[in-house]
Amino acid sequence: MSTSPKGQLLTRTLAMPSDCNANGDIFGGWIMSQLDLAGGILAKEISHGRIVTVSVSSITFKKPVSVGDVVCVYGECSRIGNTSMNIDLEVWVKPVRDHGVEERFMVCDATFNYVAIDEAGRPRPIQK
Ligand SMILES: CC(C)(COP(=O)(O)OP(=O)(O)OC[C@H]1O[C@@H](n2cnc3c(N)ncnc32)[C@H](O)[C@@H]1OP(=O)(O)O)[C@@H](O)C(=O)NCCC(=O)NCCS
Repeated sequence: MSTSPKGQLLTRTLAMPSDCNANGDIFGGWIMSQLDLAGGILAKEISHGRIVTVSVSSITFKKPVSVGDVVCVYGECSRIGNTSMNIDLEVWVKPVRDHGVEERFMVCDATFNYVAIDEAGRPRPIQK
């Protein structure tokens, strides 16, 4: 079990009641959306321009997320191809309860893949 996040902090947000599933935990689709936003920010920075998500190689939900948790997405680029990038992502939660701040823990990890595109939506070479 890792004790610290891999990569840089890309996004930080608050899990809200409207993001819940029928069990009262945070909906996995909302977490996937946070991952895609975070990975997209890094891919955009690396490629200096427009990107699209092309695929998700892996995603594992390790622990549930609760309403009120501070949800942080960390990431790093594990591969830059000609036009594509693989971004490894981790979601960490810092529970902030009435009695104080608890130790942060990882709730999800994933690899999202992006392609740099030109104005016409065609793959564009990434300058390395
Ligand atoms: C992504 C897209 C631009 C790729 O276009 P394409 O003509 O199929 O491109 P290519 O086959 O030349 O592949 C381009 C790169 O993508 C990579 N790629 C293609 N399919 C992939 C997949 N399923 N997973 C990972 N990488 C993939 C290729 O390996 C190649 O990488 P490289 O240049 O680093 O070697 C096109 O498929 C597209 O527009 N898809 C829709 C994207 C979208 O709407 N996403 C959701 C909203 S952001």
